[in-house]
Amino acid sequence: MDGGIALIGSGSATPTQILTNAQLGQRVETSDSWIVSRTGIAERRISAPEESLVMLSHKAASSALEMAGWAPSSIDLVLLATSTPDDLFGSAPQVQANLGATKAVAFDLTAACSGFLFALITAAQYLRNGTMRRALVIGADQLTKWVDWDDRRSCVLFGDGAGAVALESSDFQDDGLIDFKLKSDGNRGDCLNLNQFGESLQLIDGISHQKGGFRPIEMNGQEVYKFAVREVPALLGELLKANKISSKSLDWLLLHQANQRILDAVADRFDIPHEKVLSNLANYGNTSAATIPLMLDEAVRDGRVKKGDLLATSGFGAGLSWGAALLRWQGPS
Ligand code: ACO
Repeated sequence: MDGGIALIGSGSATPTQILTNAQLGQRVETSDSWIVSRTGIAERRISAPEESLVMLSHKAASSALEMAGWAPSSIDLVLLATSTPDDLFGSAPQVQANLGATKAVAFDLTAACSGFLFALITAAQYLRNGTMRRALVIGADQLTKWVDWDDRRSCVLFGDGAGAVALESSDFQDDGLIDFKLKSDGNRGDCLNLNQFGESLQLIDGISHQKGGFRPIEMNGQEVYKFAVREVPALLGELLKANKISSKSLDWLLLHQANQRILDAVADRFDIPHEKVLSNLANYGNTSAATIPLMLDEAVRDGRVKKGDLLATSGFGAGLSWGAALLRWQGPS
């Protein structure tokens, strides 16, 4: 029988520059009260020019390693979930090199705001089937590089950050990944995009080529909102039912931090008291693939999430993509 996995360590990192709602009002016509009441966001972190995705990822991964108490040379896999790599060929190998994780294979995985959850599940497969023993899973994004800062409907939402977890193979009876479900629907993909633009240039007579480049984020906020409040509870409900777990027995609801109204709507659907809903949206906004590990790390370090706690988690976003998992936090021994 396949083994299980244990979540042993966590880490996170955010840029130092803080942009408040009031400051954003200097750029677009908006207000603190509009943003807080519609989203729950009060401020977000913006990467300065010298702060790269690799730097944020490295910092988050290093503190997860430190919590786990692992030597970098003992890691088999560095999996970086991001939609905003420093290098389109992949940024994970640079993180691996900076960590000194000499034995590890490293690669990127892209699934927007679902990226961390998709990467966690992917890494878990290698650990469960015995081909690898230790993995670092990082979720990191710098969407503020790709936001249209003149589009008030979307620019108020996003911020930058990174989070990481250290995973280890374990006995099946101690499995920290109780169950999961992952979904995608490309038919609905046009409500949230960071698309290439199709500039066509002549290469030689009769042959043209495309010039690479990306347009800023385009989003139909209402469609994304409706998608999230419909699909996330449906998937979480399926998971709870299939595993005969009552929502009352959950210690924490750890959702992708997109909008406080989405968090509250999902909690209400399952009768989960709002004190059990982890939220740091006010401080960071939507950091895409980073939100779940960033939130988890804060709650582990301030003592809210304790050894043995049961968490229901869900990531959702562009693709469209979404997923849910039931996790048990193990922590360092
Ligand atoms: N400040 C002030 N007014 C604003 C702002 C703003 N920042 N943005 C929009 N408005 C105005 C609109 O122009 C509109 O005015 P009008 O009625 O005169 O036309 C009014 O406010 C209402 O606009 P809506 O778009 O209907 O506002 P809504 O209540 O839907 O809230 C929001 C918008 C916050 C974007 C919401 O739709 C939402 O959170 N959607 C989910 C988006 C999301 O989570 N995206 C990320 C997914 S994860 C990923 O993969 C990256």
